[in-house]
Amino acid sequence: MNIRPYQDKDYDEVKVILQQGGHFDDVWDSRSHWKAKSENDSNSILIAENDDGVLGCILIIKDKWTCFLFRLAVIEDQRGKGIGSSLISHAEEMLKKDSEDEVAIFVNEDDAGLQQYYEKRGYLRGGKYRCLYKKLKG
Ligand SMILES: CC(C)(COP(=O)(O)OP(=O)(O)OC[C@H]1O[C@@H](n2cnc3c(N)ncnc32)[C@H](O)[C@@H]1OP(=O)(O)O)[C@@H](O)C(=O)NCCC(=O)NCCS
Repeated sequence: MNIRPYQDKDYDEVKVILQQGGHFDDVWDSRSHWKAKSENDSNSILIAENDDGVLGCILIIKDKWTCFLFRLAVIEDQRGKGIGSSLISHAEEMLKKDSEDEVAIFVNEDDAGLQQYYEKRGYLRGGKYRCLYKKLKG
């Protein structure tokens, strides 16, 4: 398995993986948003791949105030093999190299299993928040 920056050609495979994981948003996850993000910072979206194609992804948001990991997802038939953990570790190592000292993840408050997944990987519980959003166009 190899971990590398996202490229626009990965989009169709990534979209399927996000949809499988229930984490696809028409606006946030449009092809143009992913392209713009990766062009703004080529290391802000990581892809795990093997010879068969894309296995998973993780998205990094950082702006020198704080950092977040988003959109961790692994293709359904390859879960449980350490791909998700590798993507998290890779992202964390990149942030450490950039002298970042903390990273946060938002997890569905109803998904106790997923919260445990992150807790096993060293993440601590913060406050409970609900995501609100507003359309700026259309
Ligand atoms: C969460 C996810 C990325 C984990 O990827 P993965 O490659 O399967 O994870 P790993 O192989 O690194 O870790 C496997 C371990 O995590 C556990 N695990 C994986 N997903 C889990 C989940 N949703 N809830 C609880 N435990 C989970 C496995 O049971 C396994 O446990 P073990 O180490 O005790 O055997 C993957 O399950 C996925 O794509 N889920 C759908 C998308 C999603 O919910 N993403 C999180 C967004 S915040």
